[in-house]
Order: sequence, then structure tokens, then C-alpha cells
Amino acid sequence: MGDRPDPTEEADLDAPPLEATFDVADEAGTIALARRTAAALRPGDLLLLEGDLGAGKTFFVRALARALGVPEDEPVQSPTFALVHHYPDATPPLVHADVYRLPDPGELVYTDLPEALQEGEAIVVVEWGTAFEDAWPTPALVARIALEGDTARRWELRGRPSLVRAMTAVATGEAL
Ligand SMILES: Nc1ncnc2c1ncn2[C@@H]1O[C@H](COP(=O)(O)OP(=O)(O)OP(=O)(O)O)[C@@H](O)[C@H]1O
Ligand SMILES: [Mg+2]
Repeated sequence: MGDRPDPTEEADLDAPPLEATFDVADEAGTIALARRTAAALRPGDLLLLEGDLGAGKTFFVRALARALGVPEDEPVQSPTFALVHHYPDATPPLVHADVYRLPDPGELVYTDLPEALQEGEAIVVVEWGTAFEDAWPTPALVARIALEGDTARRWELRGRPSLVRAMTAVATGEAL
């Protein structure tokens, strides 16, 4: 199936979150996953990523940024020190944060993440965001990525059913 809107999507807003686990074999698999994710996201969606150091959180967000229209010559780097990077020209706009070094959730008010979330226009992706789970509105997706080998990664998802289904379908090669 293509990317036509699903007529059952509205009901999906109130549906309980769906969980799924799958493996991604290599970087190309992560890029394909990011592309399909981008197509299933909506403005205002919050994604929380966690998992091993070097699992590919930033790699995934870079691929997501490209899929949302951030040009190849614009660097998409880890926001480890800046905490938050903005890509206002992406469609929808993208906000990429890494809160690994933030000592406690109270410090979030010193970032512009609360404002970005309240505006509800951007996709907001937060690496290590699950540490502050109570500080966020309900995320569209929580993803835990684990190292399985040099290039293999295990993804555990919990989130909006339509999004989790779309991501699982591309990773497992199933039709939606
Ligand atoms: N299947 C894969 N998906 C994503 N990255 C992969 C994959 N296989 C190998 N890699 C490599 O793994 C590394 C992932 O690094 P990345 O900075 O994205 O991790 P991270 O999860 O953001 O780590 P940190 O916790 O330090 O922020 C990159 O060097 C990337 O090239
Ligand atoms: Mg990172």
C-alpha cells in the first residue's frame, strides 16, 4: 500500500499504544526505517529514543531529517552539547534534542523544548528522553535500540498504532 491516508487514522488517536520488536540488519535498513517513519509522522509528534551508546539514535535522526527535506549538505550532528538543534525548513519542521547530560527534568525549562512541544508544529525527537518520562506529553513513539552486532540493531517500539505498524512493516518487509 502507498502513503494514502488511512480512514481509520482518527480513531487511532485514542487507541492504546501498540508494542513491536524487530531487527534492522544494517545502516541501509535504518535509513529505510527512517524514511517510512517520516511518512507516518504528524506535526507535533514527540519521539523518545533510548538505547546503547552508539546504537544509532543520532544516525536514525539524521536519516529522518533527510527524509523530511533537510538537504544533504546541511550537517545533522549529535546535539549532545547544544542539547537542541532546530531544522525549521524541514516539512514538518524537526527539533532534535539529546538530554543525556541534563541533570534533571526541571532543567528542561531552560531549553526551548517545552515551547516547541506546545506549539505542536514540529516533530520533536529526544535522545535519552525516556529518563524524564513524566516531564513530557504522551509521546507518539518510544523506541529502545539495542546493539545486536556490528551493524544489526534490535528495535523495541511502543506508540501510536499506525506509526508502529508502518515502522514494523518496513523492517519486516511485510505489506501494510
Ligand atoms: N544498523 C545501523 N543503524 C544505525 N547506525 C549504525 C548501524 N550499523 C552501524 N551503525 C553505526 O553505529 C553508529 C551509531 O552512532 P550514533 O551516534 O547514531 O549512536 P547514538 O545511539 O546516537 O549514540 P549516543 O548514545 O552516544 O548518542 C554510527 O557510527 C553508525 O555508522
Ligand atoms: Mg546520539
